[in-house]
Amino acid sequence: MLPGKISPSLMCADILKIKEYLAAFSAGGIEYLHIDIMDGVFVPNFALGTDFCAAIRRISDIPLDIHLMVDRPENKIQWFGVRPGDIVSVHAESTRCLGAALQAVKGLGASAFAAINPGTSVEALAGVVRLLDGVLVMTVQPGFAGQKMAPGSIEKISEVRAWLNMNGREDALLEVDGNVSFENAVKMRAAGADIFVSGSSGVFAKTLPLAAAIEKFRAAIL
Ligand code: DX5
Ligand code: ZN
Repeated sequence: MLPGKISPSLMCADILKIKEYLAAFSAGGIEYLHIDIMDGVFVPNFALGTDFCAAIRRISDIPLDIHLMVDRPENKIQWFGVRPGDIVSVHAESTRCLGAALQAVKGLGASAFAAINPGTSVEALAGVVRLLDGVLVMTVQPGFAGQKMAPGSIEKISEVRAWLNMNGREDALLEVDGNVSFENAVKMRAAGADIFVSGSSGVFAKTLPLAAAIEKFRAAIL
């Protein structure tokens, strides 16, 4: 198993300090920048958008990990300036054209991940298992940072990993998002997670300076 990768959730960052944060992420070898796109329809909140992605590109070359929490993502993927090396996650619950959405991501040269809510079984991905570069397992209801991990999340991560392997997809990655605290990250790693979205209970927890928090988080996911 390769070392775990960190994807800090930028919706948890103080926007006025974003340059300082990005410098710390580069220094800390951060692998991805997680950008939550929320449309107020698929989830009951608004967050970030196309201009935010473009601005981040101007000041950082860390690949983006774009989490689309929007209705009908297949019509919107083209708006985000997606590049090879990025990850784009589309929710299984957000579209009747999940295959088309994943294909659109792949067409831009990025990694196509399907995201599933805590209440969605991995079986919902049966029809697209060959298209997946990874699965984003939501460990809270999408929409808001700062929630507690949903019950059964650690078991769900193990189930998703086993399901991918059973379908011959040992190569597909597993990302986790939602209350990935230092403590939960250890358990999620043991259950088979590869990429960790680190938010308000992770690298943005105000208990440590950012550089120290990155180091502590990395130690949790070895
Ligand atoms: C929630 C978002 C997450 C969120 C995670 O809908 O997808 O990326 O920012 O924040 P924490 O780590 O606070 O749960
Ligand atoms: Zn997210």
